[in-house]
Amino acid sequence: MSVSDPERLREIVGEICDHMARETDRGQVADYIPELAKVDANRFALALALPSGEVIGGGDADTRFSIQSVSKVFALAVALGRIGDQLWTRVGREPSGDPFNSIVQLEHERGLPRNPFINAGAIAVTDAILSRSEPREALGQILQFVRFLADDDDIAIDPGVAASETVSGWRNAALANFMRDFGTIERHPEKVLGTYFHQCAIAMTPRQLALAGRFLAFDGALTPGGARAIAPRMARQINALMLTCGHYDGSGEFAFRVGLPGKSGVGGGILAVAPGRASIGAWSPGLNAVGNSQLASMALEMLADRTGWSVF
Ligand code: DON
Repeated sequence: MSVSDPERLREIVGEICDHMARETDRGQVADYIPELAKVDANRFALALALPSGEVIGGGDADTRFSIQSVSKVFALAVALGRIGDQLWTRVGREPSGDPFNSIVQLEHERGLPRNPFINAGAIAVTDAILSRSEPREALGQILQFVRFLADDDDIAIDPGVAASETVSGWRNAALANFMRDFGTIERHPEKVLGTYFHQCAIAMTPRQLALAGRFLAFDGALTPGGARAIAPRMARQINALMLTCGHYDGSGEFAFRVGLPGKSGVGGGILAVAPGRASIGAWSPGLNAVGNSQLASMALEMLADRTGWSVF
Protein backbone atom coordinates (compact mmCIF):
# COMPACT_ATOMS: atom_id res chain seq x y z
CA MET A 1 0.00 0.00 0.00
CA SER A 2 1.41 3.36 -1.01
CA VAL A 3 -0.58 6.59 -0.67
CA SER A 4 -0.59 9.00 -3.61
CA ASP A 5 -4.01 10.68 -3.28
CA PRO A 6 -3.30 14.39 -2.54
CA GLU A 7 -6.41 14.67 -0.37
CA ARG A 8 -5.22 11.84 1.89
CA LEU A 9 -1.68 13.28 1.91
CA ARG A 10 -3.06 16.64 3.07
CA GLU A 11 -4.84 14.88 5.93
CA ILE A 12 -1.66 13.02 6.92
CA VAL A 13 0.43 16.23 6.88
CA GLY A 14 -2.26 17.95 9.00
CA GLU A 15 -2.28 15.09 11.53
CA ILE A 16 1.51 15.11 11.82
CA CYS A 17 1.59 18.91 12.30
CA ASP A 18 -1.09 18.67 15.02
CA HIS A 19 0.88 15.93 16.75
CA MET A 20 4.12 17.94 16.66
CA ALA A 21 2.42 21.07 18.02
CA ARG A 22 1.60 19.07 21.17
CA GLU A 23 5.04 17.48 21.54
CA THR A 24 6.89 18.74 24.62
CA ASP A 25 10.27 17.01 24.16
CA ARG A 26 11.59 19.05 21.22
CA GLY A 27 15.38 18.46 21.53
CA GLN A 28 18.07 21.12 21.86
CA VAL A 29 18.60 24.00 19.42
CA ALA A 30 22.23 24.06 18.17
CA ASP A 31 24.26 26.77 19.88
CA TYR A 32 27.84 26.13 18.72
CA ILE A 33 27.01 28.55 15.88
CA PRO A 34 25.67 31.41 18.08
CA GLU A 35 23.29 32.79 15.45
CA LEU A 36 21.44 29.44 15.25
CA ALA A 37 20.71 29.51 19.01
CA LYS A 38 18.28 32.41 18.43
CA VAL A 39 15.77 30.30 16.53
CA ASP A 40 12.44 29.44 18.24
CA ALA A 41 12.33 25.75 19.23
CA ASN A 42 8.55 25.69 18.78
CA ARG A 43 8.80 25.88 15.01
CA PHE A 44 7.78 22.86 12.98
CA ALA A 45 7.08 22.33 9.30
CA LEU A 46 6.45 19.55 6.83
CA ALA A 47 6.23 20.07 3.06
CA LEU A 48 5.75 17.51 0.28
CA ALA A 49 6.55 18.30 -3.35
CA LEU A 50 4.56 15.87 -5.50
CA PRO A 51 5.10 14.66 -9.09
CA SER A 52 2.18 16.87 -10.21
CA GLY A 53 4.08 20.00 -9.14
CA GLU A 54 1.73 20.53 -6.19
CA VAL A 55 3.28 21.25 -2.79
CA ILE A 56 1.44 20.23 0.37
CA GLY A 57 2.74 22.35 3.24
CA GLY A 58 1.90 22.29 6.93
CA GLY A 59 3.03 24.24 10.02
CA ASP A 60 5.79 26.81 9.36
CA ALA A 61 6.30 25.69 5.76
CA ASP A 62 6.86 29.28 4.61
CA THR A 63 9.34 30.31 7.31
CA ARG A 64 12.98 30.65 6.27
CA PHE A 65 15.59 28.63 8.16
CA SER A 66 19.30 27.88 7.85
CA ILE A 67 19.74 24.71 5.81
CA GLN A 68 23.31 24.11 7.08
CA SER A 69 24.43 20.58 6.16
CA VAL A 70 21.49 19.99 3.83
CA SER A 71 23.50 22.27 1.50
CA LYS A 72 26.03 19.43 1.21
CA VAL A 73 23.58 17.63 -1.09
CA PHE A 74 23.42 20.58 -3.48
CA ALA A 75 27.19 21.19 -3.35
CA LEU A 76 27.79 17.51 -4.10
CA ALA A 77 25.51 17.67 -7.14
CA VAL A 78 27.33 20.79 -8.40
CA ALA A 79 30.74 19.16 -7.84
CA LEU A 80 29.71 15.92 -9.60
CA GLY A 81 28.32 17.92 -12.49
CA ARG A 82 31.57 19.85 -12.88
CA ILE A 83 34.23 17.29 -12.02
CA GLY A 84 32.43 13.97 -12.48
CA ASP A 85 33.75 10.73 -11.02
CA GLN A 86 37.15 12.28 -10.40
CA LEU A 87 35.61 13.74 -7.26
CA TRP A 88 35.86 10.28 -5.68
CA THR A 89 39.65 10.52 -5.55
CA ARG A 90 39.18 13.12 -2.77
CA VAL A 91 36.30 11.75 -0.77
CA GLY A 92 34.95 8.27 0.05
CA ARG A 93 31.48 6.75 0.01
CA GLU A 94 31.29 4.92 3.32
CA PRO A 95 29.31 5.80 6.45
CA SER A 96 31.60 7.09 9.19
CA GLY A 97 29.72 6.00 12.31
CA ASP A 98 31.24 9.09 13.93
CA PRO A 99 29.82 12.54 14.70
CA PHE A 100 29.52 14.99 11.81
CA ASN A 101 32.52 17.06 12.89
CA SER A 102 34.85 14.22 13.90
CA ILE A 103 38.54 14.31 12.95
CA VAL A 104 39.63 10.85 14.14
CA GLN A 105 39.34 8.87 10.91
CA LEU A 106 41.30 11.42 8.92
CA GLU A 107 44.56 10.55 10.65
CA HIS A 108 44.27 6.81 10.00
CA GLU A 109 42.92 7.16 6.48
CA ARG A 110 45.51 9.40 4.75
CA GLY A 111 43.41 12.53 5.19
CA LEU A 112 40.63 11.14 2.98
CA PRO A 113 37.17 11.84 4.45
CA ARG A 114 34.78 8.89 4.59
CA ASN A 115 31.92 10.56 2.69
CA PRO A 116 30.77 13.93 1.28
CA PHE A 117 28.23 14.55 4.08
CA ILE A 118 30.45 14.66 7.16
CA ASN A 119 32.03 18.09 7.59
CA ALA A 120 35.49 16.96 6.43
CA GLY A 121 34.01 15.44 3.26
CA ALA A 122 31.89 18.50 2.51
CA ILE A 123 34.91 20.79 2.92
CA ALA A 124 36.77 18.56 0.43
CA VAL A 125 33.83 18.82 -2.01
CA THR A 126 33.82 22.62 -1.69
CA ASP A 127 37.58 22.64 -2.39
CA ALA A 128 36.93 20.54 -5.51
CA ILE A 129 34.39 23.12 -6.75
CA LEU A 130 37.00 25.81 -6.09
CA SER A 131 39.39 24.02 -8.48
CA ARG A 132 37.28 25.54 -11.28
CA SER A 133 36.01 28.80 -9.71
CA GLU A 134 36.85 31.53 -7.22
CA PRO A 135 34.78 31.57 -3.98
CA ARG A 136 32.28 34.24 -5.05
CA GLU A 137 31.64 32.47 -8.36
CA ALA A 138 31.42 29.04 -6.68
CA LEU A 139 28.84 30.33 -4.18
CA GLY A 140 26.93 31.94 -7.03
CA GLN A 141 26.86 28.59 -8.84
CA ILE A 142 25.59 26.69 -5.80
CA LEU A 143 22.95 29.33 -5.09
CA GLN A 144 21.85 29.51 -8.73
CA PHE A 145 21.55 25.73 -8.80
CA VAL A 146 19.34 25.72 -5.68
CA ARG A 147 17.16 28.52 -7.12
CA PHE A 148 16.80 26.59 -10.37
CA LEU A 149 15.86 23.39 -8.51
CA ALA A 150 13.24 25.18 -6.39
CA ASP A 151 12.13 27.31 -9.35
CA ASP A 152 12.37 30.30 -7.02
CA ASP A 153 14.88 33.17 -7.05
CA ASP A 154 13.95 34.24 -3.53
CA ILE A 155 16.61 32.08 -1.86
CA ALA A 156 19.74 33.67 -0.42
CA ILE A 157 22.71 33.27 1.91
CA ASP A 158 22.12 34.65 5.43
CA PRO A 159 25.22 36.79 6.06
CA GLY A 160 24.63 36.84 9.85
CA VAL A 161 24.76 33.03 10.04
CA ALA A 162 27.84 32.88 7.78
CA ALA A 163 29.63 35.47 9.96
CA SER A 164 28.61 33.65 13.14
CA GLU A 165 30.09 30.39 11.87
CA THR A 166 33.23 32.13 10.62
CA VAL A 167 34.05 33.32 14.15
CA SER A 168 33.17 30.02 15.84
CA GLY A 169 34.24 27.39 13.30
CA TRP A 170 37.45 26.24 14.97
CA ARG A 171 36.67 22.56 14.55
CA ASN A 172 36.10 22.99 10.83
CA ALA A 173 39.34 24.98 10.62
CA ALA A 174 41.13 22.03 12.22
CA LEU A 175 39.60 19.62 9.67
CA ALA A 176 40.55 21.87 6.74
CA ASN A 177 44.12 22.40 7.94
CA PHE A 178 44.54 18.68 8.57
CA MET A 179 43.31 17.85 5.06
CA ARG A 180 45.45 20.61 3.52
CA ASP A 181 48.49 18.95 5.04
CA PHE A 182 47.54 15.59 3.47
CA GLY A 183 46.85 17.29 0.13
CA THR A 184 43.14 16.32 0.14
CA ILE A 185 42.31 19.98 -0.24
CA GLU A 186 44.46 22.10 -2.53
CA ARG A 187 43.47 25.69 -1.80
CA HIS A 188 44.21 27.75 1.28
CA PRO A 189 42.01 26.48 4.15
CA GLU A 190 40.71 29.98 4.84
CA LYS A 191 39.41 30.32 1.29
CA VAL A 192 37.75 26.89 1.38
CA LEU A 193 36.20 27.49 4.81
CA GLY A 194 34.85 30.90 3.82
CA THR A 195 33.07 29.30 0.88
CA TYR A 196 31.85 26.33 2.94
CA PHE A 197 30.47 28.54 5.75
CA HIS A 198 28.53 30.67 3.26
CA GLN A 199 27.16 27.60 1.49
CA CYS A 200 25.92 26.25 4.84
CA ALA A 201 24.26 29.63 5.55
CA ILE A 202 21.80 29.32 2.66
CA ALA A 203 18.36 30.15 4.06
CA MET A 204 15.15 28.86 2.55
CA THR A 205 11.70 27.72 3.56
CA PRO A 206 10.67 24.06 4.02
CA ARG A 207 8.43 24.49 0.97
CA GLN A 208 11.40 25.68 -1.12
CA LEU A 209 13.51 22.83 0.26
CA ALA A 210 10.92 20.25 -0.79
CA LEU A 211 10.88 21.77 -4.28
CA ALA A 212 14.69 21.85 -4.43
CA GLY A 213 14.87 18.13 -3.65
CA ARG A 214 12.58 17.03 -6.48
CA PHE A 215 15.52 16.19 -8.74
CA LEU A 216 16.41 13.37 -6.35
CA ALA A 217 12.86 12.00 -6.23
CA PHE A 218 12.34 12.08 -10.00
CA ASP A 219 15.52 10.53 -11.47
CA GLY A 220 17.43 13.79 -11.83
CA ALA A 221 14.50 15.81 -13.24
CA LEU A 222 12.32 18.51 -11.63
CA THR A 223 9.14 16.65 -12.53
CA PRO A 224 8.79 13.11 -13.89
CA GLY A 225 10.07 13.37 -17.47
CA GLY A 226 10.49 17.16 -17.10
CA ALA A 227 13.46 19.58 -17.07
CA ARG A 228 16.63 17.73 -16.14
CA ALA A 229 18.99 18.91 -13.37
CA ILE A 230 21.47 16.01 -13.27
CA ALA A 231 21.91 12.57 -14.86
CA PRO A 232 19.68 9.80 -13.43
CA ARG A 233 22.77 7.81 -12.43
CA MET A 234 24.01 10.70 -10.32
CA ALA A 235 20.64 11.13 -8.63
CA ARG A 236 20.72 7.44 -7.68
CA GLN A 237 24.25 7.78 -6.31
CA ILE A 238 23.35 10.83 -4.20
CA ASN A 239 20.27 9.05 -2.83
CA ALA A 240 22.43 6.04 -1.88
CA LEU A 241 24.80 8.31 0.03
CA MET A 242 21.92 10.13 1.73
CA LEU A 243 20.49 6.82 2.90
CA THR A 244 23.81 5.48 4.22
CA CYS A 245 25.53 8.70 5.40
CA GLY A 246 22.96 11.53 5.51
CA HIS A 247 22.43 11.44 9.28
CA TYR A 248 26.04 10.85 10.42
CA ASP A 249 26.15 8.42 13.34
CA GLY A 250 22.34 8.39 13.28
CA SER A 251 22.16 7.13 9.67
CA GLY A 252 21.41 3.51 10.56
CA GLU A 253 18.66 4.55 12.97
CA PHE A 254 17.08 6.90 10.40
CA ALA A 255 17.15 4.18 7.70
CA PHE A 256 15.66 1.73 10.20
CA ARG A 257 12.87 4.03 11.36
CA VAL A 258 12.08 6.00 8.18
CA GLY A 259 13.48 3.98 5.27
CA LEU A 260 14.09 6.98 3.00
CA PRO A 261 17.26 8.72 1.77
CA GLY A 262 17.60 11.85 3.91
CA LYS A 263 20.02 14.63 4.72
CA SER A 264 19.90 16.60 7.94
CA GLY A 265 21.38 19.91 9.04
CA VAL A 266 22.03 21.49 12.45
CA GLY A 267 19.50 24.20 11.57
CA GLY A 268 16.92 21.43 12.16
CA GLY A 269 16.09 20.75 8.52
CA ILE A 270 15.85 17.36 6.84
CA LEU A 271 15.46 16.79 3.13
CA ALA A 272 14.02 13.31 2.52
CA VAL A 273 13.35 11.57 -0.77
CA ALA A 274 10.55 9.13 -1.55
CA PRO A 275 11.60 8.04 -5.04
CA GLY A 276 8.84 8.60 -7.60
CA ARG A 277 6.49 9.82 -4.86
CA ALA A 278 7.69 13.08 -3.33
CA SER A 279 10.51 15.26 -2.16
CA ILE A 280 10.01 16.16 1.48
CA GLY A 281 11.22 19.15 3.48
CA ALA A 282 10.87 18.80 7.26
CA TRP A 283 12.03 21.34 9.83
CA SER A 284 12.13 21.77 13.57
CA PRO A 285 15.16 23.44 15.21
CA GLY A 286 15.58 21.17 18.28
CA LEU A 287 18.17 18.44 17.72
CA ASN A 288 18.59 14.96 19.16
CA ALA A 289 21.80 13.64 20.73
CA VAL A 290 23.51 13.05 17.36
CA GLY A 291 22.66 16.48 15.90
CA ASN A 292 19.61 15.59 13.78
CA SER A 293 16.25 17.32 14.20
CA GLN A 294 14.25 15.46 16.81
CA LEU A 295 10.76 16.34 15.58
CA ALA A 296 11.60 16.35 11.86
CA SER A 297 12.96 12.79 12.24
CA MET A 298 9.84 11.76 14.15
CA ALA A 299 7.58 13.40 11.56
CA LEU A 300 9.30 11.57 8.72
CA GLU A 301 8.90 8.28 10.56
CA MET A 302 5.16 8.96 10.94
CA LEU A 303 4.90 10.03 7.29
CA ALA A 304 6.67 6.90 6.00
CA ASP A 305 4.53 4.76 8.24
CA ARG A 306 1.24 6.28 7.08
CA THR A 307 2.08 6.53 3.37
CA GLY A 308 3.97 3.25 2.90
CA TRP A 309 6.75 5.26 1.19
CA SER A 310 9.74 3.42 2.71
CA VAL A 311 12.09 2.26 -0.06
CA PHE A 312 12.28 -1.15 1.61
O1 DON B 1 30.02 22.92 9.58
C1 DON B 1 29.16 22.94 10.45
O2 DON B 1 29.37 22.56 11.59
C2 DON B 1 27.79 23.43 10.06
N1 DON B 1 27.89 24.49 9.10
C3 DON B 1 26.97 22.36 9.45
C4 DON B 1 26.89 21.11 10.30
C5 DON B 1 25.62 20.38 10.15
O3 DON B 1 24.62 20.89 9.72
C6 DON B 1 25.61 19.01 10.69
N2 DON B 1 24.27 18.50 10.66
N3 DON B 1 23.61 17.84 11.33
